[in-house]
Amino acid sequence: MRKTLICFCLMAPLALGAAELAGTWKYAAPPNPNAKGNRPPAETVYVIKVDGNRFTGTMLVNRGIADILNGAIDGTQITFERLDGNGRKTAFKGEIGGDQLTVSPANPPAAGQGQGGRGPQGPTVLKKASSETEYKLPPELAHKPLPEFKPIKPNGYALTPPMGWNSWNKFARAVDDRAVRGMADAIASSGMRDAGYIYVNIDDTWEGERDKDGNIQSNQKFPDMKALADYVHGKGLKLGIYSGPGPRTCAGFAASYNHEEQDAKTWAAWGIDYLKYDWCSANEVYHPEELKPAYQKMGLALRAARRPIIFSLCEYGWQEPGEWGPAAGGNLWRTTGDISDNWYSMSTIGFDSQIGREKHAGPGHWNDPDMLEIGNGQMTDTEYRTHMSLWSMLAAPLLAGNDIRSMTDSIKAILMNKEVIAIDQDKAGVQGLAVRKDGDCSIAGRGGQQTKIPCQEVWKKPLAQGVAVSLFNRGGDAAKMTVKWSEVGVTKKNPKVRDLWAHQDVTAPAELSVDVPSHGVVMVTVK
Ligand code: GLA
Repeated sequence: MRKTLICFCLMAPLALGAAELAGTWKYAAPPNPNAKGNRPPAETVYVIKVDGNRFTGTMLVNRGIADILNGAIDGTQITFERLDGNGRKTAFKGEIGGDQLTVSPANPPAAGQGQGGRGPQGPTVLKKASSETEYKLPPELAHKPLPEFKPIKPNGYALTPPMGWNSWNKFARAVDDRAVRGMADAIASSGMRDAGYIYVNIDDTWEGERDKDGNIQSNQKFPDMKALADYVHGKGLKLGIYSGPGPRTCAGFAASYNHEEQDAKTWAAWGIDYLKYDWCSANEVYHPEELKPAYQKMGLALRAARRPIIFSLCEYGWQEPGEWGPAAGGNLWRTTGDISDNWYSMSTIGFDSQIGREKHAGPGHWNDPDMLEIGNGQMTDTEYRTHMSLWSMLAAPLLAGNDIRSMTDSIKAILMNKEVIAIDQDKAGVQGLAVRKDGDCSIAGRGGQQTKIPCQEVWKKPLAQGVAVSLFNRGGDAAKMTVKWSEVGVTKKNPKVRDLWAHQDVTAPAELSVDVPSHGVVMVTVK
């Protein structure tokens, strides 16, 4: 009798907390009077399934689905991890008290970096909404289980990094049929096409509503996509388009969710040659672990459409797309958030955020540090030369993002430097990297915060024949920079050295010593 009583007393608080925790909990943020648009404020929702003193579940943060992992209940105290769409895990702790669940990050973020759905100062206080323990999408957003992710064979396209133009950086929502035709004309007449810029890519905001059979239609800015494709093809160019695995694109237009095969067929019928497929609202309908199969679903749909279409994945580098992008049918994948036309954005993306990704690049499958900003006006020509050199050293896609119709001669000379383009397009398809970083400098970010960076970097990119070497000066002052050929793997005496921006041969038997302007580059081949 006594034994039973002791056992009961120990179990009681644990069982009580566990029983209370199972179910659906909600926190509704108060309406934000400054919010734009008419979307209601996002709720924070937890749907929790309990098994003994362990639990798992689903959580909605700003409408995005996150997984609740490794939940543990100890009396009224809980701990768990949140797995977000970007593959990141965050530890949380909380307390169950009647119809209230109080949750806060186990390691609170620094001031100013609040969690979604959290009250202004304190932890999130959720109220029990129902006893439902399975998270279900609203019926209009439901989807069939995605097929298991199984590697598919390469499609054989993009054996060198894709080159062309994309509308987003310059036009954003203002792109229309006229602008695209104008750009195709200018790409053909300016020499850009002959320099290799072949793809004319329409980014977001071309999409209209679906017809009664679910076929995607273009909106009034693009009256006839097939006619536009014919026009672009007539210029010796190819046409690209944009969509995403979610219900809506980043700009809020219809995307391919639950219409993947149908959209791929429509694009093939229009004559589309390139697809950029952008995650955005997909985290409102897919769990983090569904990201890869969601991309593969479109990879397979493009195959089934039987037209050579380059497949460009855009999930901002969240789930290491280099590891699985090719197996999903992808030819390239974004590795970062959006670039902007300034030195901080461009240089930190190019120099710092691509480190370690070299192993993922090669013919048919490329890292994509985002489109070029060359010629958009907010960097100097010196900085744009660095942008062009760095992207070429990285074997990155070269997608111009400026208005080709009104390029200055100096911008033309940068974008159409054939000797630099040849480095990007080298058949070996090796992504270059820094072999030496010197000095301690710092760079001011958007919020004015200072980040430590090297002042100078020496890069190499092995080529099918020889090696490309770039001396980059990230610092605020001009600098003398030296590289010994032995540092970049050249053992031959008296190699042939050519300066790719000065367009001249250089005598440099064992090393090169040059003055490099602030934010500038000297780029050579050593053969
Ligand atoms: C995201 C992408 C951008 C662009 C926009 C369009 O932000 O990263 O490159 O495609 O969406 O809405």
